[in-house]
Amino acid sequence: MELNGKRIVLGVTGGIAAYKAAELVRLLGKQGAEVQVAMTEGATHFVTATTFQALSGKPVYLDQWDARMPNAMAHIDLSRAADLIVVAPASADFLARIAQGMADDLLVTMVLARDCPLLVAPAMNRQMWENPATQRNVRQLQADGVQILGPASGEQACGEVGAGRMLEPEEIVEEVVAFFAAKVLAGRKVLITAGPTFEAIDPVRGITNLSSGRMGYAVARAARQAGAEVTLVSGPVDLPVPQGVVRVKVRSALDMHAAVMARAADADVFVGVAAVADYRVNNAAEHKLKKDAGGIPPIELIENPDILAEVAALKKGPFCVGFAAESRNLEEYAQTKRRKKNIPLIAGNLIQDGFGGDDNRLVLFDDKGTHPLIPAPKSVLARQLVEHIAQLLTGKM
Ligand code: PMT
Repeated sequence: MELNGKRIVLGVTGGIAAYKAAELVRLLGKQGAEVQVAMTEGATHFVTATTFQALSGKPVYLDQWDARMPNAMAHIDLSRAADLIVVAPASADFLARIAQGMADDLLVTMVLARDCPLLVAPAMNRQMWENPATQRNVRQLQADGVQILGPASGEQACGEVGAGRMLEPEEIVEEVVAFFAAKVLAGRKVLITAGPTFEAIDPVRGITNLSSGRMGYAVARAARQAGAEVTLVSGPVDLPVPQGVVRVKVRSALDMHAAVMARAADADVFVGVAAVADYRVNNAAEHKLKKDAGGIPPIELIENPDILAEVAALKKGPFCVGFAAESRNLEEYAQTKRRKKNIPLIAGNLIQDGFGGDDNRLVLFDDKGTHPLIPAPKSVLARQLVEHIAQLLTGKM
């Protein structure tokens, strides 16, 4: 539960994306946040207050003169009780009103009277978003310290295609988690590999492995939430790109090698989570191998470059972190890999714990010794790994 004990006021304004705010309340609550919903009058035309009340378990506030506040100061009391105000969806009208400092309904009054940060997730038709007035308001809000989440591009409810779609509720939750995370990697550039590689035998067949990419994507998300600028070089997996992370898709170990080496010198930290194939097919067929061609096709293997070892050997290269998945003798094999590749830190996991799935059991090995982490979801372990890296970088360990 990444938002345990956080008190969040969720403002919902009038727009078709208001229906997604219901899911947002559910997801924030699932992460342990206490959510108080405040709606504009416009929002009630799209979703009823009852929906939000049922999902948040709290009465929803709609207007400034709500008799439930004994001192008639709903705007002050609600914002004082919050660690963060999130407005999703934020309509063009709402952005305009808060950019001007207006106070003509409960939500904008609360925003004006707040003493906590404000995140807004705009949602509107693409032309409304591109309109110079909206863009002016957004620039003003950014200058005032308001964090703008999105918007995304894509098909809109009106049938048009372009920028203006609200971020998905999962993406907004990620931004909220990132907002609260300690920025232990602020200003650092982190390069990460994830997933398997695919070594072609012919145009449709190949050699690969069971890495799902989950561990590497979790490390990318955690590093970004810790304030780093993150590039994720990913083998073929079916996972969404973590918010704010630049993903470079690759297929083979050679592709991964090229993508990493092009970026490694510019990185402060390199984390090799990918299960890179040690060998590729030297005689990959240009056309599909035919069974009736006679005989079993000879597959000739050739060694792939060791990406991590090459990055570690760079002069003035990044701080390097490896992963080792073993079926036995975890400490011995992981430490041997660490020494052989000449890296300061390696995260060991047993194959049965690490491959696929959402959970893992990691043991960190560095110059100071062995640091077993409690078995946990990959997201939690990734955050602990990021904290460990940050401590080693700042010499605090
Ligand atoms: O993707 P998931 O399903 O979440 O699973 C996660 C994982 C089990 C794949 C991950 O936690 C993990 O352990 N990854 C490393 C797998 C492994 O054992 O790699 P290795 O022993 O082949 O390589 C050791 C290190 O060198 C790794 O950091 C690897 O990325 C790197 N390497 C290896 C070979 C190579 N040619 N180039 C490399 O950079």
